[in-house]
Amino acid sequence: MNALTENVSLSKEVDMENFWMPFTANKQFKAAPRILKSAKGMYFTTIDDKKVLDASSGLWCVNAGHCRDEITEAVHKQMMELDYAPPFQMAHPIAFEAAKAIAAVMPAGLDRIFFANSGSEAVDTALKIALAYHRARGDGQRTRLIGRERGYSGVGFGGISVGGILANRKAYSGALIPGVDHISHTHNLAEMAYSKGQPAWGAHLADDLERLCALHDPSTIAAVIVEPVAGSTGVLVPPQGYLQRLREICTKHGILLIFDEVITGFGRLGKATASELLGVTPDIITMAKAMNNAAIPMSGVAASRHVHDAIVNAGSGTAIEFFHGYTYSAHPAAAAACLATQEIYRKEKLFERSASLAPKFEKEIHALRGEPFVKDIRNLGLMGAVELDSRDGAPGARAYDVFLKCMEKGVLARFTGDIMTFSPPLIVSEGQIEEIFSTVKKALHETA
Ligand SMILES: Cc1ncc(COP(=O)(O)O)c(C=O)c1O
Repeated sequence: MNALTENVSLSKEVDMENFWMPFTANKQFKAAPRILKSAKGMYFTTIDDKKVLDASSGLWCVNAGHCRDEITEAVHKQMMELDYAPPFQMAHPIAFEAAKAIAAVMPAGLDRIFFANSGSEAVDTALKIALAYHRARGDGQRTRLIGRERGYSGVGFGGISVGGILANRKAYSGALIPGVDHISHTHNLAEMAYSKGQPAWGAHLADDLERLCALHDPSTIAAVIVEPVAGSTGVLVPPQGYLQRLREICTKHGILLIFDEVITGFGRLGKATASELLGVTPDIITMAKAMNNAAIPMSGVAASRHVHDAIVNAGSGTAIEFFHGYTYSAHPAAAAACLATQEIYRKEKLFERSASLAPKFEKEIHALRGEPFVKDIRNLGLMGAVELDSRDGAPGARAYDVFLKCMEKGVLARFTGDIMTFSPPLIVSEGQIEEIFSTVKKALHETA
């Protein structure tokens, strides 16, 4: 047991056997559990009453800080009034209001909003929209989907097929959807280590899409999906000019460009979307995490009008145009949480706050340069990563230890392989940013 939990005989109170935990080493965890029992603002409270500063917004999703009264009240009110309404051939007013609120912060023209419940569902929805779009236009031979190495696009079969994370694909490799290919990732330590913001090197890596066009012929390619900043693989910031180049190639060949903004949406980078910050507009945006501050599962897809209209106008007017949707699409409680969250973002100017804190975040994270095991640091907005040298024969073990030490010292960070990632709520203070990285520094010094 680690120090955090050594006094807690959790097994006496809670039988942990039945819960098969996602993306967790179940046996390791249940032998030394880390249990969070409540949260407020920037802090979680553990089961043994220790406060833990949330340096990762939960899973990059609680952008307005925890347990916001406005959201709780909005959900409660909604549940008292209308707990559920079927979203197929029926609707409720707040679904339209939530779509309007989301459309208002999306890039101009991407204002047709489809609701789902998770990032994975949003990705699968976006891929289906892309295929339906080409088919509706009489271009049904465009069925190939292009993802990117190291991309995380969720865990549905569509998402793991276009995704580029080995561990998520390996066991299912024979069952991935056919006709998918990948462009190369953009990470190159020799050229871009310790970049602050967007690396100057690497725009040409987008030309890898031309290679796939030459291999498959562009007339077979429906869409390319990338995270503008790859998050789960360890914060890979796009080189300057890279996304612009990808956009140009897609436009030239009639390929739809999908930005997976499940992490980058809603202020993480100081604007509503990475698209807005980086000045590149895709045809489709997926969103999820901070959409309603993670209070109730919710995700969405913003489609540009030309994509939406091609599908909807191709219908007879009385038949269903797009055979897709979820029982909980636009769930009233999720929609209420979404409206309340968007109002908090607007009222408290949290996207602007995120932008104004980014230089402090950059300064503090880059101050870890030269500390033990650190081999790269990268950042954009309030999103950053510290890559560590791996222990011989034990990839991921060192970052796991640093993560545990940070937790013992009262900071919840994340790690992926040997990369520590940081993405605090947008309400974080400058002092808390200092605390996060001084804690990481101490943890690095105590780690073998
Ligand atoms: C870019 C991206 N897309 C999709 C997903 C999948 O989201 P979910 O876990 O809600 O299915 C994630 C989750 O981390 C993500 O980071």
